[in-house]
Amino acid sequence: MTQDELKQAVANAALEYILPHLEQNMIIGIGTGSTANFFIDALAKVKDRFDGAVASSEASAERLKKHGIPVYDLNSISEMRFYIDGADESNEHLHLIKGGGAALTREKIVAAVAQEFVCIADESKLVDVLGQFPLPVEVIPMARSHVAREIVKLGGDPAYREGVVTDNGNVILDVWNMSIVDPKGLETALNQITGVVTNGLFALRPADVLLLGTSEGVKTIK
Ligand code: A5P
Repeated sequence: MTQDELKQAVANAALEYILPHLEQNMIIGIGTGSTANFFIDALAKVKDRFDGAVASSEASAERLKKHGIPVYDLNSISEMRFYIDGADESNEHLHLIKGGGAALTREKIVAAVAQEFVCIADESKLVDVLGQFPLPVEVIPMARSHVAREIVKLGGDPAYREGVVTDNGNVILDVWNMSIVDPKGLETALNQITGVVTNGLFALRPADVLLLGTSEGVKTIK
């Protein structure tokens, strides 16, 4: 199977996963990226069975609206049953690296509100130790050099993602060459650097379930 076929398969599996729980007044949290896009397109087929969505990026909001799915401001809702999103890496504990699409901060906020974070990914994303994928860190622009120096002290090699401005008006540093054996500790340490908005480790709030697309079918990891 191609990577796109695996992404399509996990998108379909995520729809099946949430289908029995859909209610007319339900708002669903939606992530960002190519796998999330497959899910948005699948979700559109059942758009009459729920109320609408909160999106973790402008790009996903646009895609939802094109399908006629109402998009809500997160501040206008009080509870969210599901958040569905992809990942750049996951370990067996469902600690994730996210932010390859620069949407990590909004993704983390929506995931924080959701009762259940359903992560959808193809099998290439499952790793023993996080860190092969460079860890994205969203940074206030004037703090970029300071944050980069502090990241070097933590053992990482930060690279400025040139030409990228996040939906929040900030910049991204991608941290290379870190073998992340303590994801919770690193997530906390990075977030304590002044000027960091947040980083792409999802370990303090990991996924609750990972639907992993493999050539033998979709595996459910909890
Ligand atoms: C977006 O900022 C990311 O967190 C994505 O969820 C992640 O990069 C996965 O993207 P793909 O589904 O395109 O691999």
